[in-house]
Amino acid sequence: MTIRPRRSALYMPASNSRAIEKARSLPCDVVILDLEDSVAPEAKAEARANAVAAVRDGGFGGREVVIRVNAFGTPWAEDDLKAAAASGADAILAPKVGDAHMVGRYHAAMANAPAGMGFWAMVESSRAIFRLDAIAEAMAARPGAFVLGTNDLAKEMGARLTVERTPFLGMMALAVAAAKGHGLAILDGVYNAFDDEEGLARQCVEARAYGFDGKTLIHPRQIEIANRGFGPDAEEIAWAEAAVAGFAAPENAGKGAIRVGGEMVERLHLDQAHRILAMAGAPISVDRPS
Ligand code: COA
Ligand code: MG
Repeated sequence: MTIRPRRSALYMPASNSRAIEKARSLPCDVVILDLEDSVAPEAKAEARANAVAAVRDGGFGGREVVIRVNAFGTPWAEDDLKAAAASGADAILAPKVGDAHMVGRYHAAMANAPAGMGFWAMVESSRAIFRLDAIAEAMAARPGAFVLGTNDLAKEMGARLTVERTPFLGMMALAVAAAKGHGLAILDGVYNAFDDEEGLARQCVEARAYGFDGKTLIHPRQIEIANRGFGPDAEEIAWAEAAVAGFAAPENAGKGAIRVGGEMVERLHLDQAHRILAMAGAPISVDRPS
């Protein structure tokens, strides 16, 4: 099993080749090649071809590469899904997933995609909010994640999207509970004001407190803030490194509890230590006895 950091997930229009090229060297954990909202109808075919070529050419290092397709009901959905499923991307992100039935349709469209390819669902409609548990449950067949679409939610509900996001806090908590209850990752919605670093930092602190794994982003300037907001601090990293090193030491082989500094650390804490180190940067492979 691999624990992956998903502190920062940067969207870019797949029609924008310059942005894709840039993404290969940006410090984001996830690159989302968008075929949907950020791409104009006349650029859809070119964006699709660009996304497929970008994945094929590679060069993204340890970053996860995800393709956001157009929704069922649009003229582009079938072609997008076919191309994305065969692309070798890490996951497909589907917009406006409103119920478990729709998850089934996407999974069916991905029947020939590699088993390890993820299916990520945008949570961005009022309809989805009351079906979160069923939607998450229906996603069991593939590695999955929820991605909040707060812009679309705000638009549909007529709610105001402020820095504090008071109208959305209840939905955020429910989405985290549904995701974590079914072993999914969950990423927070974007912050549109990309010049306002303080506002973004506030949203990251809050989303982390709710249990989000990271935040979706729209501009490279937002990456470091999200990495800091969702990553562990220096003290947590030091503890995790000491715990891992402690259990790896030959004199501790076979022990269930050891001393690290002035504290007892048990084997069950190793999971936590691995997760912290993964969240600090590189994906970490963890071998577990099954
Ligand atoms: N991914 C990768 N690179 C990006 C980027 C992104 N999302 N947004 C901007 N950049 C690059 C630009 O290409 C530019 O690079 P350059 O200086 O080498 O040419 C640099 O970062 C600075 O960009 P800047 O001039 O500040 O922004 P812009 O005016 O070019 O673009 C947006 C502003 C909002 C149009 C752009 O950030 C964007 O398209 N964001 C993503 C939108 C999206 O995908 N939305 C869907 C999900 S909500
Ligand atoms: Mg949307």
